[in-house]
Amino acid sequence: MLKLNKFPIGIFDSGVGGTSIWKEINTLLPLENTIYLSDSKNAPYGDKNKQEIIDLSIKNVEFLLKQHCKIIVVACNTATTNAIKILREKYDIPFIGIEPAIKPAALQTKTNTIGILATKGTLNSDLFEKTSSAINKKIVKKEIVGKGLVDLIESGKLHSNEMTELLSSYIIPLMNENVDCLVLGCTHYPYLIPQIREIVGDKIQIIDSGEAVARQTKSILEKHSLINTSSKNSSHKFYINKDKKVLEILISNDRKNLKVIEEDF
Ligand code: DGL
Repeated sequence: MLKLNKFPIGIFDSGVGGTSIWKEINTLLPLENTIYLSDSKNAPYGDKNKQEIIDLSIKNVEFLLKQHCKIIVVACNTATTNAIKILREKYDIPFIGIEPAIKPAALQTKTNTIGILATKGTLNSDLFEKTSSAINKKIVKKEIVGKGLVDLIESGKLHSNEMTELLSSYIIPLMNENVDCLVLGCTHYPYLIPQIREIVGDKIQIIDSGEAVARQTKSILEKHSLINTSSKNSSHKFYINKDKKVLEILISNDRKNLKVIEEDF
């Protein structure tokens, strides 16, 4: 029988942001081989309609399946909330998705007021609406569309005055509304945490779902007996359909076994 364990975990996002999830997965599962797909040419997904997001997600999955991925992590809240149901119906492979962590935020808030920073596509989705309506009714939810944030990160302006101004315009009003938990509902946003901290100090707790997604990935691999136990160095390929510079900066650190490939898909 073909041993699937050594086959890679496939991970995709509209762009470079899902590398924040890749890092969590790589930290928890260092022996796993991975293939990451950054569809930066089509970012942001958040301003597109549901059908466009579904079509792009299918294109990404087809690419990852050609690379023999054993499971697929949809490292994008916008793609998860709009397309994961269709992907699960269409393909016979486990999918792991990511959604804004509003349930943990609802449990942790003391002021009963939480902020949710996400894309328009996520906040308008049926799945978000469903999750949102299931939490305690006395929790006030302040939803903010982070318009422009993904574009700035994709264009290499993570650390720029433009970014600080845009972020402040979204976050300062939340502080005035008694928000004590801020949910980061987009996988690009964990890269903004140091700047958000500069703005909010320690007044607001920042909550994202990256670690939970890595734990869920591990548990699904275990459930399907797909964990890679090989002690050989794991290999990691990153495909991007735009200039690779921004992605390289985000993943670089001191890792040696990473390969970034510019390719149209
Ligand atoms: N990283 C995507 C997410 O988690 C960004 C969405 C976009 O491309 O607008 O939603």
